[in-house]
Amino acid sequence: MEPNQKITPEWVASAKSRGEKIPALTAYDYPTARLLDEAGVPVILVGDSVGMVVLGYPDTTHVKLDEIRHHLSAVARAKTRALVVADLPYHTYQSAEDAVAHARVLVAAGADAIKLEGGVAVLPEINAFREAGFAIMGHIGMLPQSLKEEGGYKIKGRSEAERERLLADAVAVEKAGAFALVMELIEPELAREITERLTIPTIGIGSGPHCHGQILVIHDLVGAFPWFRPKFAVAKADVASAIRSAAEGFVKSVRSA
Ligand code: KIV
Repeated sequence: MEPNQKITPEWVASAKSRGEKIPALTAYDYPTARLLDEAGVPVILVGDSVGMVVLGYPDTTHVKLDEIRHHLSAVARAKTRALVVADLPYHTYQSAEDAVAHARVLVAAGADAIKLEGGVAVLPEINAFREAGFAIMGHIGMLPQSLKEEGGYKIKGRSEAERERLLADAVAVEKAGAFALVMELIEPELAREITERLTIPTIGIGSGPHCHGQILVIHDLVGAFPWFRPKFAVAKADVASAIRSAAEGFVKSVRSA
């Protein structure tokens, strides 16, 4: 692939056969998308995590389609080389018709691909996306949009029944045509097994080191949301302290002028 060529879903789908790992990060605005692109991040997700780290909601179930569209439009203005994936938020894909109509809104706003949560349960929606010509990223394991039903952010795949269900979900999502699969909070040995089983890359978050790629919420990576950071996320910067100290310096300088 040429250095400035746009990353495609096909390029991501074949990363495993090239032995290429996939780093992915979230972005919700124009400057962050440009910075991640300049840093060589190949996949940018406009995730519904925007609800928690930007909009101040307690979880992702409060995020509306129009809020994702708004942030996605800003990211799309960065015209990144990176593939831009947008999350379909809570309750926007309860039927295949709804899913396709809402995905169209996101594609019109600049999404190169659509992510939705679930495995076998969302196969009708994934099939409808494929028929409509949308590139699909799957998401299995802990599903933040089902937080209430799941009773919290817990590791998935510890019981034999759950392992079998997650394996079946992964295989079904790949077979339905997804180009990559996010695996959130999956027990690491199961994550390894699924990664070995699939042809498309698995992109892990809190699922151990054996996935074919890793994804993080940008605020967790750069320390921009100090009030909560998941245990598995290691911050590589302290943006929150930099902002606080710049603001404190500004306050002092204005008061003393
Ligand atoms: O919304 C999001 O940021 C996500 C990632 C955590 C995978 O879905």
